[in-house]
Amino acid sequence: MKKECVLVSGGAGYIGSHTAVELINAGYDVVIADNFSNSDIHAVEGVRKITGVDVPCVEVDCCDMEAFRSKVFEKYEFNSVIHFAASKAVGESVEKPLKYYRNNLTSFMNVIELMRDFKRPNIVFSSSCTVYGEPDKQPVTEQTPRKPAESPYGNTKTMCEDILRDSIKAYEGLKGIALRYFNPIGAHPSALIGELPRGVPQNLVPYITQTAAGLRECLSVFGDDYPTPDGSCIRDYIDIVDLAKAHVTAIRRMIENRNKEAYEIFNIGTGRGVSVLELIRKFQEVNHLKLNYKIAPRRAGDIIAIWADPTRANNELGWKAERTLDETLVSAWNWEKHLRGIK
Ligand code: WQD
Repeated sequence: MKKECVLVSGGAGYIGSHTAVELINAGYDVVIADNFSNSDIHAVEGVRKITGVDVPCVEVDCCDMEAFRSKVFEKYEFNSVIHFAASKAVGESVEKPLKYYRNNLTSFMNVIELMRDFKRPNIVFSSSCTVYGEPDKQPVTEQTPRKPAESPYGNTKTMCEDILRDSIKAYEGLKGIALRYFNPIGAHPSALIGELPRGVPQNLVPYITQTAAGLRECLSVFGDDYPTPDGSCIRDYIDIVDLAKAHVTAIRRMIENRNKEAYEIFNIGTGRGVSVLELIRKFQEVNHLKLNYKIAPRRAGDIIAIWADPTRANNELGWKAERTLDETLVSAWNWEKHLRGIK
């Protein structure tokens, strides 16, 4: 029987490459589209090595409608799209809002328009817990009201959710699922793919692993005077492989017509809130090393705490986070050691 094919836009990125692996493991064919503006062909080579499949990869900018049409939609048969292609650095989005609105909105609108024209029905959109802002109540459910985003990056996620909702209403046959993920961390157990931040890492875990590898002198903990048990911020850190598997269950739900609404939203988190200082302690413990860190002033724009209530994804989607924080932090360190040739 012919395999279902899934287009993964931004598929050379951190989440995209891990999702490509899990899609192939689940029996789907995959086509990757990426402009490599914030990713690397090595990630695609890693996907090919892990799966043993020579995954087709098209270098294309999703903002270039004609190129996207001719190089991807006219060339490949797929009924489903998982859309990751977007700029995602919160801080940079504050300095360069137009880059973020232009790139993240244009690429998404092009995907939707081409899916409508080519009658490709199913899309999973990579959304983010950032749409909740600083929640009044924890843990957050899908009914927790969205709040004005703290950054242009976060605002593009809110706007793309609305573009998806309105497009599904307007265009016959289109179905979509928005996955609001929390903080993705870790790497594939093979250590052949993982997070590849360019320049100084903005996110906590890559900064930790680069400090442990000696690339960074000292990790700064941005504030220990927050109203939390140990004073540091709390997040829901979700393993990247678990997150990738959530995308497979979401696309399968639509391919098999099990979605209850044409547009659905799911929180993809562990349901476990972990503080920065707890995560640092855990990283040192499971990897048997001492991390050089200091307490520094708060970072502008950080929220105090957010973690998911994943009940809906567990029950409705049939997905649950499986990997422990220990396993995830070991995988993160193994990946960094692989990258730097550390034994
Ligand atoms: C986590 C905690 C920092 C670095 C962002 C986006 C979100 C999602 C994940 C894409 C915070 C602290 C960090 C450091 C630190 N991205 N920290 N020292 O800001 O929760 O979420 O990335 O979808 O949309 O907003 O993640 O890893 O940057 O920070 O103390 O060097 O670690 O203050 O409390 P964040 P993060």
